[in-house]
Amino acid sequence: MEAKHAFVDRLLALERRVYRIYEKWAANESFSDDMRSLWRDMADDEKQHFAILEQSAGLLNFAASAPPIAAEQREKISAAIATAERASDNPKPAIEEVFGHALALESSELNQLDDAWLKGFQSSAASLTQDWTPAHDQHIRRLADAVRRFTVSEALHRDAAALLSQYEREKRSQPA
Ligand SMILES: [Fe+2]
Repeated sequence: MEAKHAFVDRLLALERRVYRIYEKWAANESFSDDMRSLWRDMADDEKQHFAILEQSAGLLNFAASAPPIAAEQREKISAAIATAERASDNPKPAIEEVFGHALALESSELNQLDDAWLKGFQSSAASLTQDWTPAHDQHIRRLADAVRRFTVSEALHRDAAALLSQYEREKRSQPA
């Protein structure tokens, strides 16, 4: 139980940092209203994700053991978040830069860990994955669409397409 608790706490702490980054961009006055409302939506998605994770913390009896998380993996995720956190302090960031960080965050292994964790619950707690999968789906598509809508960078468009196909691949390879 101890290990499961520590695991979900760790996930929540990482997710909260991502949420705060999107919040800052939502409040950034150098952005257009459209761009700010995109980050508002992305932040709201994250809020919904950690509400689901918080719920899972109350259902630990039904959870499989915590998925293994190597220190190196955790450091990689945390480093991607720290880079984006520093960027989110910039009052006038370039739009391409902002999307580059968001794509790095959403391609990081954090989403996979969330996924593995929630899918490890027994069917008595299946509502967790029922809430999680569509929420996550919408979140990834929102970002990929926005990259196409707000930027003309071919490299970013490629990264967004890669994020989508990575996501689709994982979805297919995991039991529903
Ligand atoms: Fe996210």
